[in-house]
Amino acid sequence: MDEAREILELQQRIAVLEEELMRAQRLSSVGALASSITHEFNNILTTVINYAKMGLRHPDDATRTKSFDRILSAGQRAAKITTGMLAYARNSSDRIEPCDLKKLLEDVLMLVQKDLQMHRINVDLQASQSVWAKANASQIQQLLMNLIVNARQAMGENGRLKLIVRDNPAEGWGEIVVGDSGCGIPHDKLPHIFESFYTTKKPDARGQGGTGLGLALCRKIVEAHQGRIRVESEIGKGTTFTLKLPRSESPAGFIDTSAA
Ligand SMILES: Nc1ncnc2c1ncn2[C@@H]1O[C@H](COP(=O)(O)OP(=O)(O)OP(=O)(O)O)[C@@H](O)[C@H]1O
Ligand SMILES: [Mg+2]
Repeated sequence: MDEAREILELQQRIAVLEEELMRAQRLSSVGALASSITHEFNNILTTVINYAKMGLRHPDDATRTKSFDRILSAGQRAAKITTGMLAYARNSSDRIEPCDLKKLLEDVLMLVQKDLQMHRINVDLQASQSVWAKANASQIQQLLMNLIVNARQAMGENGRLKLIVRDNPAEGWGEIVVGDSGCGIPHDKLPHIFESFYTTKKPDARGQGGTGLGLALCRKIVEAHQGRIRVESEIGKGTTFTLKLPRSESPAGFIDTSAA
């Protein structure tokens, strides 16, 4: 009897630790974007400072109005980034509810956009309509962030990131595909990539390498959603991950204005 209680307590403890690990990993994935976000803020500050100087130097109405306009839109761009970051880092509800997959992907793209741009990565997004699935928004965003950061790290400069959001009513899935034109994964390594702590990323000059937790958490998230994740890869050509989540009808009252 005592033994059973002990097992139960240990299981609860594991669940708490897994929850903490998930949160820590979410924060560390934002860390991978730190340099691109700093860069973006520097650009915004340069715009603000230059237009403030211009407005002071040329006090005519037209120039001042133009300067204020530019300063305002730069400020709004900064606010959008910080709001997106905070929402991503903070969100931790574990409710599963109908989510628009296209919207989830777009929110993640807003955070990684600059990083992709800095590495001259061409983004090809194919999503013609809203696709609804039963999902926990913050977990799926974390999963997509992990896949996209991995894709970026596999590509170096001038890669191509292909993103598809599609409905698969015949099989009952809402699907997201993340494909890269990166280095690919050797056939014998493929079975290991979803294992915890499996990484091929060596520590860089600052001692920061991979933890090998990104895909392990992706797998956990997919399991919690009763979804599927599949990977195909070819050395030198690239890797494609396909995520499938249980499809849901668009919620009542939601009118899809895009072409069906
Ligand atoms: N798109 C990809 N292209 C090539 N290899 C990949 C890709 N995605 C994952 N891998 C391989 O799978 C390994 C495990 O990925 P995972 O995201 O779990 O850990 P990581 O990226 O090494 O570390 P972290 O995510 O903590 O930064 C990677 O080290 C890499 O070898
Ligand atoms: Mg990773």
